[in-house]
Amino acid sequence: MRIVCLPGDGIGPEVTAAAVRVLEALPLEVELEERSFGGAAIHATGTPLPPETLSACLEADAVLLGAVGLPEFDGAPVRPEQGLIGLRRELDVYANLRPARGGDVDLVIVRELVGGLYYGARGRREDGSAFDTCDYHPNQIERLVRRGFELARTRGGRLTSVDKANVLETSRLWREIATATAPQYPDVRLEHMLVDNAAMQLVLAPARFDVIATENTFGDILSDVAAGVTGGLGLAASASLGDAGPGIFEPVHGSAPDIAGRGIANPAAMLRSVSLLLEHAADRPELARALDAAVDRALETAPTPDLGGSATTAGFTDAVLDALSVDAAARGA
Ligand code: NAD
Ligand code: IPM
Ligand code: MN
Repeated sequence: MRIVCLPGDGIGPEVTAAAVRVLEALPLEVELEERSFGGAAIHATGTPLPPETLSACLEADAVLLGAVGLPEFDGAPVRPEQGLIGLRRELDVYANLRPARGGDVDLVIVRELVGGLYYGARGRREDGSAFDTCDYHPNQIERLVRRGFELARTRGGRLTSVDKANVLETSRLWREIATATAPQYPDVRLEHMLVDNAAMQLVLAPARFDVIATENTFGDILSDVAAGVTGGLGLAASASLGDAGPGIFEPVHGSAPDIAGRGIANPAAMLRSVSLLLEHAADRPELARALDAAVDRALETAPTPDLGGSATTAGFTDAVLDALSVDAAARGA
């Protein structure tokens, strides 16, 4: 399979290097291609998503993405983040799966990824004011909510649809569509929850959740909360999937400018994203489980500083590779 790697900015290249080491060590036929993206691409070509990067992604079986964003672009007219927003839309990866697990917590946020505030009309007016608009078509909501129901039926059978239907019209539409879709999934129990309460419940009682389906902006914020209550952004992976075509496998975290360049970023979020790639794009669930187990073991033996340890990115990756080869030896491979 062909995987396009987009290391991007800050710690993006550091955690992508860890992913490449692991992918090359796995019993898997992969062709890895690296392309310029984000702030690095703005420097090289003036745009965060150069046409040759986009066409390579469109032709790939999967895209593995580090992170984008650099403080030097704050206030600039062209920003690295625009490349990510554009790529998600071009690949139409509308369903962003963001699992959070740890202790008794095991939940997945299914975040709508190509609509809402991120893609609505925005601008400045002559009077100095600014606006962003949140816009959702019923089809955009229905296809996302279906992914939530379908995922829930393979897990705990519970779906929490999160909205702000007490205030927002787009949220009232969201709730109507979730309610209207539910009878087609009689094996799943649907509940509705307002987003402010959902944020509190995620902090106080995260174990009560199974699958959460929500719109783009709420999903962005709630997935950082879910990451926070299960060990932090160094652990949080994601898979951005459409109906056909390549998915994007990306950590939830950003370019972490505060620790970039020091070789201490936790690559677990990226390696768990590789595991989502193995499951969803390579159809190798057994390899995904083996990698998950190896990452869990490395988290115990070689934690990075964000988790109170002193391992480097490379040291953590060594521990993952060790655990993988121990596993392989134990299986007699
Ligand atoms: P961030 O996720 O980059 O960092 C938040 C905090 O978490 C920082 O203290 C950072 O050091 C820590 N952290 C994140 N990942 C870590 C890891 N793997 N190991 C150890 N610690 C880690 O968020 P931010 O600082 O708000 O944003 C920085 C830049 O990243 C911004 O330009 C933002 O737009 C961008 N960003 C990009 C993505 C993406 O590419 N998908 C996601 C989020 C933010
Ligand atoms: C994420 C990031 C992105 C988002 C930014 C960098 C555009 O925060 O993947 O969560 O908001 O989707
Ligand atoms: Mn985010």
